[in-house]
Amino acid sequence: MRSVEIRQKFFDFFSDKGHKIVASAPIVNNSDPTLMFTNAGMNQFKDNFLGTKEIIHSRVADTQKCLRVSGKHNDLEEVGLDSYHHTMFEMLGNWSFGDYFKSEAIDWAWELLTKVYGLDGNRLYATIFEGASEDALERDVEAFDLWKKHLPEDRILNGSKKDNFWEMGESGPCGPCSEIHIDLRSEEERAAISGADLVNQDHPLVIEVWNLVFIQFNRLLSGQLEPLPQNHVDTGMGFERLCMAIQGKKSNYETDVFTPFIHEIEKITGFTYSNQYSEEAKVDTSFRVVVDHIRAVAFTIADGQIPGNTGAGYVIRRILRRAVRYYYTFLNWQQPLMYQLIPMLADYFADVFPELQAQKDFVAKVILEEEKGFLRTLEEGIQRFNLLTIENNQVAGEDAFTLYDTFGFPIDLTALMAKEKGYTVDLDGFNTALSQQKERSRKDAVQQVGDWNIVSDVKSTVFKGYDHDSLEGVKVTRMRSVAKKDKEILQLVLDQTPFYAEGGGQIGDRGRLTSANGEVIAVLNTLRENELIVHIVDRFPSDVHGSLKAEIDVTRRKSIENNHSATHLLHAALRQVLGSHVQQKGSLVTDKYLRFDFSHYEKLSTEELAQIESIVQEKITANIPLQEDRSIPIAEAQAKGAMMLFGEKYGDTVRMITFEEDYSRELCGGCHVDATGNLQLFRITSESAIAAGIRRIEAVTGSGAIQYVNNEIEELNSIRALFKNTVGLPGQIQKLQEENKGLQKSLEELKLEGSKQLKTELVNKLEAHNDVMLLAECTDGMDGKILKNMVFEIAQLHPSSIIVMGDRSETSAQILIYIDKELVSKYELNAGSLIRSISSYIKGGGGGQAFFATAGGKNPDGVAEAVQHIKDDILTKIKAV
Ligand code: SER
Repeated sequence: MRSVEIRQKFFDFFSDKGHKIVASAPIVNNSDPTLMFTNAGMNQFKDNFLGTKEIIHSRVADTQKCLRVSGKHNDLEEVGLDSYHHTMFEMLGNWSFGDYFKSEAIDWAWELLTKVYGLDGNRLYATIFEGASEDALERDVEAFDLWKKHLPEDRILNGSKKDNFWEMGESGPCGPCSEIHIDLRSEEERAAISGADLVNQDHPLVIEVWNLVFIQFNRLLSGQLEPLPQNHVDTGMGFERLCMAIQGKKSNYETDVFTPFIHEIEKITGFTYSNQYSEEAKVDTSFRVVVDHIRAVAFTIADGQIPGNTGAGYVIRRILRRAVRYYYTFLNWQQPLMYQLIPMLADYFADVFPELQAQKDFVAKVILEEEKGFLRTLEEGIQRFNLLTIENNQVAGEDAFTLYDTFGFPIDLTALMAKEKGYTVDLDGFNTALSQQKERSRKDAVQQVGDWNIVSDVKSTVFKGYDHDSLEGVKVTRMRSVAKKDKEILQLVLDQTPFYAEGGGQIGDRGRLTSANGEVIAVLNTLRENELIVHIVDRFPSDVHGSLKAEIDVTRRKSIENNHSATHLLHAALRQVLGSHVQQKGSLVTDKYLRFDFSHYEKLSTEELAQIESIVQEKITANIPLQEDRSIPIAEAQAKGAMMLFGEKYGDTVRMITFEEDYSRELCGGCHVDATGNLQLFRITSESAIAAGIRRIEAVTGSGAIQYVNNEIEELNSIRALFKNTVGLPGQIQKLQEENKGLQKSLEELKLEGSKQLKTELVNKLEAHNDVMLLAECTDGMDGKILKNMVFEIAQLHPSSIIVMGDRSETSAQILIYIDKELVSKYELNAGSLIRSISSYIKGGGGGQAFFATAGGKNPDGVAEAVQHIKDDILTKIKAV
């Protein structure tokens, strides 16, 4: 059975049992502050479990793109070394939200595995939760009894809290679970050692395939378990492992999920994959790392997360770099490789995750640039390695860690390079630094938000802000105070609200809450936490049960609406002018301006920008009324050509915003003007690149645009004032620039002339010490390049020379040291170390090699002393020999 068929059979099976098949949520999790990436199929249903969201379908099944590379579940360092861990994997899941429970979940799992997929029931084991006294939880006897229908008692095993009580993170929905394990070893091996002894023992062929979780509790941050109002089922089956079991393979990498990609890399690099697992099997490990990591990187980018230097972007960058390091070192491949796999990957997933197919050029481009950039960094890292200070023939743990962390060097690579030079690496030191960093990133990955104080049992907030700026009779439902650095942040949830919570690029509303007795509470911001609308306030109401009046800052909101509608008009204009490859890649809508990031490969020309601006302006002048379809079926919106965003989670019904049927139609939850005329004026203020293949436009509307134009005119006027005759100003400025260039050139020629004279003077100052000709002098205001040339010219005249030159300008200092290569070894001199020793004199720094080094600083007064210091050091060495 091919993998595509295996996946489809899962959907068909649960569809027949009344389940709604839903799409995978994006792999990047933007809506839950406790998670960076989706790490389980149940993430998108967290609110269904907690009861904060209305349940539309009580039985649901899907395949979810998951990533376990940060936070509570992190497998990254295992990936590639074994046959069954992955960064991105697919989790097949079926859910019951307050519908069926343990009995159906267990029976259906058994039926699917043994009847539909034809797995041998004799090779299956079930584990059940043994109980945990600290949580006052008993053994799951119910699950045990249910399994007895299918399995003999000796194949139903007790499992500890670690394995059999599933939790998504530090807090959140959780419950006891029952895992199904399969023993894929040969008959002989099974006869020799019972599979029961190998369950949960990290044996590559006795593995967990399916986890059935019985969600009954919410873990609070205090550690306490709070029972949920209803019981739910959350199951997760590792798709790639399932394929291995069904296809009778010994490794996930031998299934058709991975083999086509392995073959492609064989073709590109000329290496052959042989499915070995050991310390020495670096080539095979590299194959696995590349074919695994490309999936994580590609889908994260397709879902909107670009590699970067912080947060989720950094995690992705590191995953990509881990793969580059492996192919660079062990597949001996020093050019970009991974981006070439994207077309195949897009084809493989075309039916199940079409977002990659739709953006494959863009994704490949981003990966290509990232690979190129990192290959350059690797080269730099190698140079860096060559400059390390080595003591006792050992590379320090800290240094190995810096190479790992900053330059992305795997410890293997560092060890290999060290070995070539006859050094060892302080592995303990490296591991200590690594585990410290892991701890830091584990803490960074999740935001500890604290538990809510429940004021009333109303579960969610009704948002009324599309129609109302203010509401009376509003009640507090939850409150919480969060400690952030030294500040206390006070948060309120209301039963209904006109406040828009930051989301979809639009910033959160501000405003105030007023109590019946006139107490005024400022709302400083409004944020979203899954389904909750959270108001950040300056204080809590003295009577938390009283009625409040909630009012947003209307002027601010109107400006936000202008900029949001302008964003839609701009998006449509961009696609008209540049083409339909333009996809939204990021958006920020504030009361001051809008920022729009989109996929496009080159800088926009002045003409294109002018054209875009004028299309938007025409649409404003036409005063097009807003057409809002607040709740239409998603299929209908799609049929009507509405633009959807990748990486966005849409429900069955959606809100569709239209400005002219065939101009702009987008799915959007934000706030908009009633008619485009409100925008008055639209001006683009900047256009730039923010990453490979992504451009950014910033623009203003309304009074912001008028202000912008006024400032421009003012600037023009002040330029005009500098000229007597203001006719043909651009031509006049161009003439000035050309004159300036000419003057610059003459000046350089003069300087060069002067330096020739200076050179003659300096040559006369060369002093002989032993067999060395030494020159240590200072000059004033020399151009760096000319000075360097001069040093080399003087050196040419005298083969065994050492030249130390310092130069002072008004605010800066520079030092150059040249040491003839033979003198370097003869007297053990090193220009690089000498230059580092004088950094405090010139308040700056520099570096270089043993025969030539330079430094710059901001203290010209220290130059003479620095030169003297270097000279003394050199003389001491020369004399010491
Ligand atoms: N939430 C469980 C897991 O991730 C089952 O889906 O293993």
